Amino acid sequence: MTTKIQSAYLAPEGLSEPLLKEIDGVIVVHDRLILSSKPFVNAHWAQNIWKNPVVVSIDSINDAAKKLKSIQRNWGLYSFALHRRAQLIQGKLNSSKPKPMLFPTPLPSQGTGGSWCLLDENTLLASADCSSPFSNGEPSFIEDKDGPPNRAYLKLYEALALAGKTPVEGEFCIDVGGSPGGWAWAIQKCGAEVLSIDRSPLDEKILNLKGVSFEKRDAFSLLPAEFIEKGQSVDWLFSDVICYPEKLYDWLSIWIDSGICKNFICTIKLKGEPEMAIIKKFAAIPDSKVIHLFHNKNELTFFKLG
Ligand SMILES: C[S@@+](CC[C@H](N)C(=O)[O-])C[C@H]1O[C@@H](n2cnc3c(N)ncnc32)[C@H](O)[C@@H]1O
Repeated sequence: MTTKIQSAYLAPEGLSEPLLKEIDGVIVVHDRLILSSKPFVNAHWAQNIWKNPVVVSIDSINDAAKKLKSIQRNWGLYSFALHRRAQLIQGKLNSSKPKPMLFPTPLPSQGTGGSWCLLDENTLLASADCSSPFSNGEPSFIEDKDGPPNRAYLKLYEALALAGKTPVEGEFCIDVGGSPGGWAWAIQKCGAEVLSIDRSPLDEKILNLKGVSFEKRDAFSLLPAEFIEKGQSVDWLFSDVICYPEKLYDWLSIWIDSGICKNFICTIKLKGEPEMAIIKKFAAIPDSKVIHLFHNKNELTFFKLG
């Protein structure tokens, strides 16, 4: 390979197309891994960004392991070919295998550090610096099969793990598009008070939890003025409403401009071809970021943390 690889991007399953549209200088695509000749950009659709990849020549499995270890200790493998050879090298690295995490959990202990892959039998690509603290951008949590009414809580677990903080006791949260209550369950588990809003009912089991309340109404009729009048500050605004991104953007802007809420985590639901213009509008909100979570499907997640 003659062109210098300057960055690499791992696409979420089935979502290489929107990611490819965000990246310049594409050299080659290996399954879900896109190699680029340009320095990395914070692509919204990437599951993991390899920020400083280096090409390393190797002459054996032991040599590969030795060279990787000389760069750093913890490595996650992305294997798209020569799987057995790649696994044998990975096995020699003694990188701790990521274990399912208990939520909430602090991030630093979870980091795999770098990512690597075999480009051919005698060449590997390794990036010590990656955007995701999780191996291949895939967090794994210990699941609760009894408490929550669905698996949507895993998406919030991931978002809060990446946020590096959670709602805590004494905080007030709003959860729009909250039914049947997976997110409300996770917020309540953190000890905070949560008001869920949805046009569909909340699961009765969730409604009966201490600190959970529910209003059946249109999420977009809920405006900061209601809370300002009551003298009630809002610590977190969560949204998982299925709606056009433009509608969410306009409503969210009112909340952000009001200044009464500190933290926002909202999913941006997309249909078919993602419209980059609206994604860029969300991303242009000061102190925000828009990323694709492992637990997101055809949607992105907006974060603005106080
Ligand atoms: C993906 S589900 C939410 C799942 C939820 N986060 C959980 O953890 O269980 C989307 C929800 O948005 C709600 N929704 C869609 N449009 C709405 C609107 N205008 N106002 C309130 N809720 C709405 C739907 O009723 C649905 O329950």
